[in-house]
Amino acid sequence: MATLLAIEASPRSAAVSTELAERFIDHWQSGHEDGIVIRRNVSLEPVPLLDEAWIEAAYTAEADRTPEQRAALVVSDQLVDELIAADTLVIATPMWNLNIPAALKAWIDQIARVDRTFKFTNTAPSGLLSPSKQVVIFTTRGGSYGYGSAMFDYQEPYLRAVLRLLGLRDIRFVHAENQGFSPEVARASRDAAHEWITELPLKGRA
Ligand SMILES: Cc1cc2nc3c(=O)[nH]c(=O)nc-3n(C[C@H](O)[C@H](O)[C@H](O)COP(=O)(O)O)c2cc1C
Repeated sequence: MATLLAIEASPRSAAVSTELAERFIDHWQSGHEDGIVIRRNVSLEPVPLLDEAWIEAAYTAEADRTPEQRAALVVSDQLVDELIAADTLVIATPMWNLNIPAALKAWIDQIARVDRTFKFTNTAPSGLLSPSKQVVIFTTRGGSYGYGSAMFDYQEPYLRAVLRLLGLRDIRFVHAENQGFSPEVARASRDAAHEWITELPLKGRA
């Protein structure tokens, strides 16, 4: 059964990033009528930050873990299982202070797991997630970060790099920029993003 995992990062009830993700989910469901959708809003239901017990457990070989160490990884294991099972990963995030909200970073810290989603080699880390998993990322920004912008977008380069490190290759971004400008300008950017959504290819088991 095709599975879509949506990670939503805005705490706002009228979030544009969530609206875009939900529009894509509708589009995806039109092609996968029996598909499974799992949603997590990591701002409204935060995942824990990493602590020393987590780090010790994650870097202990699975066979050698104590019951306490296994317990320290329960949340992370569940989040990793969800991610591995998903054919399509949707991330919906506002830009906050040029990057992603800390709540989304907390999710990334939980799913970047040695020997589950990446492994160390003699040269560099190597991703363990399927390169054919589809990733669609919706971002919303108050300003704009395209050619000629005086500000630097740390969000897209960071997300591309960390997801690539985990093995993901099929990564598409849809940005709704200028949300801090007049209602007309903001609306035009949202409308353009909505149009992109219907152009996005749908992947997943039939
Ligand atoms: C705490 C905070 C930090 C923000 N930082 C930026 C920023 O660095 N650059 C930017 O263009 N917009 C910034 N914004 C504006 C948001 O990205 C913009 O309002 C976005 O549309 C919100 O997305 P949402 O509707 O999905 O919550 C910030 C907004 C907040 C609340």
